[in-house]
Formats: sequence, C-alpha cells, structure tokens
Amino acid sequence: MSKLTKIIKERRSVRKFSSLLPSKNLIDEVLEAGIYAASGRGKQAPILISITNKELRDTIAEENRKIGGWEGDFDPFYGAPIIILVIAPKDIPTAVYDGSLSIGNMMLKAQELGLGSCWIHRAKEEMESDLGKEILDKVGLKGDYIGIGHLALGIPDVPPEPIPERLPDRIFFID
Ligand SMILES: Cc1cc2nc3c(=O)[nH]c(=O)nc-3n(C[C@H](O)[C@H](O)[C@H](O)COP(=O)(O)O)c2cc1C
Repeated sequence: MSKLTKIIKERRSVRKFSSLLPSKNLIDEVLEAGIYAASGRGKQAPILISITNKELRDTIAEENRKIGGWEGDFDPFYGAPIIILVIAPKDIPTAVYDGSLSIGNMMLKAQELGLGSCWIHRAKEEMESDLGKEILDKVGLKGDYIGIGHLALGIPDVPPEPIPERLPDRIFFID
C-alpha cells in the first residue's frame, strides 16, 4: 500500500483531543495543505482562519452548540485546541466545493502528521450570525463570506478507530 493510500484509509474523525497545542510548524503544514487544494477556475477562493485563542475558540464552540441545538456544556469541537474556520467569498460559484476540498486536504495532512481532526459543521449559520462578523473584523476581512466548515484539530486523546468496511455498489464502470 502506498503511503498516501495508507493515510487516506487510516484517517478517521477524532472526537477527543488533548488540550495541548501541537507545535506551530505542524499547524502551518496543515494550513498549507488546505491552500494547495484545487479550486474552481483556479480562483483559490477558500480562506482559512486558524483559531487558537482560547476565549474565541470557546465562544465559537458555544455558538456551534446553540446552532446545533445541544443542551448543557457539550463541546461540539470535542476539546480540540485549534479550530480552522473555512470560508469563501459568497460570489464564488464553487465556494462550497472549493472549501470542502481544502478541508479534505487538511484532514489528510493532519493524519500524516499524527494529528487528529474532525470536520465540524454549522459554519454557514455561524458566519450569518454576529459572531461571524466579529471573526471577520478580527482578521480585517470585508465583504460577504459563506461559512463552509470547521476543522477541529489537535493531538488525539483516544486510540485510532478501526476502519469501517466500505459500502458496496458505490463504484460503477462504463467501459
Ligand atoms: C460535511 C461534513 C460535516 C460533518 N459534520 C460533523 C459535525 O458537525 N460533528 C462531528 O462530530 N462530525 C462531523 N463530520 C464527521 C463525520 O461524522 C465523519 O466523517 C463520518 O462519520 C465518517 O467517519 P470518519 O471521518 O471517521 O471516516 C462531518 C463530516 C462531513 C464530511
């Protein structure tokens, strides 16, 4: 099995993270993989916002919990100390596809580096809320952006999950 195939097959969503931050180099490598993803018409539309500020990270988690309708103190980011928020300008027709591919690249890079990751949804609603505007202000972005997804990233605090069987009849050939 090639190294890439192994990474693709063994990547699983991680849902329990250490509170320790991985080194900045590793975070940068993950972000780099995200911006090297293919993009519609090569426009490189996705913007990646890496959030390690604990206060903002917790505010985003709380907003995500409310959007998701969970009660109590559930953390939808599973304790991950890094949230990478992926957004793209609303006027890019392929914005969601482009951002999704960036997230996919980052998940695979995280796996290669021994980090854990999990796609966390509800970025669209978040970017439509006051919190979304606050985040844009913090990084000095102006304009309309669609929230595509978040990547919860960090050091896994659980052993790797087994690889589920793939469902049959998902590949067809027309020769
Ligand atoms: C578009 C998308 C949205 C997702 N949203 C969430 C989420 O909000 N919370 C979560 O725990 N996992 C989320 N996931 C992770 C999936 O649940 C996970 O990928 C799936 O169960 C398959 O498991 P695996 O990633 O370990 O292969 C999301 C995945 C995708 C692709």
